[in-house]
Amino acid sequence: MSVAEEKASSKPLAEQIVDSLNAINGSHPGFRAVHAKGTVCSGSFTATAEAAKLCRAAHLQGEPVRATVRFSNASGDPKASDANPIVGRGIGVKFHLPGGEDTDIVAVPLAVFMVRTPEDFLAFTQARTPDPATGQPDTEKLGAFLAEHPETGAAIQAGLPKIAPTTSFATSDYNALHAFALVDDSGERHWGRYGWQPSAGVEYLTEEQIAAADRDYLQSEIRERLDSGPAHFTLEFTLAGEGDSLDDPTSPWEGEHQVVTLGELELTEVIENPETPEQPLVMDPLRLTDGIEPSEDKILVARPAAYSVSIARRTASAG
Ligand code: HEM
Repeated sequence: MSVAEEKASSKPLAEQIVDSLNAINGSHPGFRAVHAKGTVCSGSFTATAEAAKLCRAAHLQGEPVRATVRFSNASGDPKASDANPIVGRGIGVKFHLPGGEDTDIVAVPLAVFMVRTPEDFLAFTQARTPDPATGQPDTEKLGAFLAEHPETGAAIQAGLPKIAPTTSFATSDYNALHAFALVDDSGERHWGRYGWQPSAGVEYLTEEQIAAADRDYLQSEIRERLDSGPAHFTLEFTLAGEGDSLDDPTSPWEGEHQVVTLGELELTEVIENPETPEQPLVMDPLRLTDGIEPSEDKILVARPAAYSVSIARRTASAG
């Protein structure tokens, strides 16, 4: 092991992960390590009667709650094009609960995640990093990773058509990928996976539209859209069936499933200057509330530490 490798491997895993994301996307002071470019909106969420039956959480009782929503381009490069067909998008929804507490749902258009563990995430990100000399990733390293991890190739194949550029952030669907339990009034747990469905329908750009699209078209489109009226999504919860894995985000839940509509998100306006180094906006998939419980999914468990490294770096360098 070289001195540099030895030094890197003595760092906490979360730091190594963010270093590896920076190696792919570059370090951009003041920006998130991934999902660097985004637009923040405000609105409200109103739960259905079915949601209150499944879950005792405060935002699922039917009274509208305020919501802050960040749409993003998934790249760590804030100058990445929104029309890049292999970059993808994201949505972070923060529900503001009546007592002052918040709870978040963070989601992407992928059908399943690419890796099962944070160690695999690091190895896969490192294998994808372009060699500075050639500008290309080491195909041998990448090939070896994919050969050992068939779930990664399958997730990429299922995910690529889904992350293709949509006409709007409001015409994309998004999945939270991990399983969570909704706990009802009697304490019973209902396991499932969340998904956001756009009320305007899912709509992809054509090849010609991709070629003609502006770098920041998704950011400007959502502003124009909200200027002329609200945008809506429904929050769906796919209930786990027999044999569905609750802790493997690479595992598709195949076949017929019961899907419960938990509520409707209405977005009304863009928030200008939504965050400062002193008050960063943080979407945390483990910011839960009474009535919602996490699974033991190793990716879910690992995310907050990696996010904290990115948050510490972006707030330090922007200050
Ligand atoms: C081990 C796996 C993962 C790692 C290491 C990782 C890493 C990160 C990091 C470092 C950030 C920036 C945080 C910040 O500065 O606030 C981020 C943001 C984000 N991640 Fe992940 N992520 C992982 C898995 C996922 C998964 C499974 C999803 C979707 C279900 C996801 C969706 C997002 C979204 C939408 C954002 C932007 C949130 C915002 O707008 O503030 N990530 N991720």
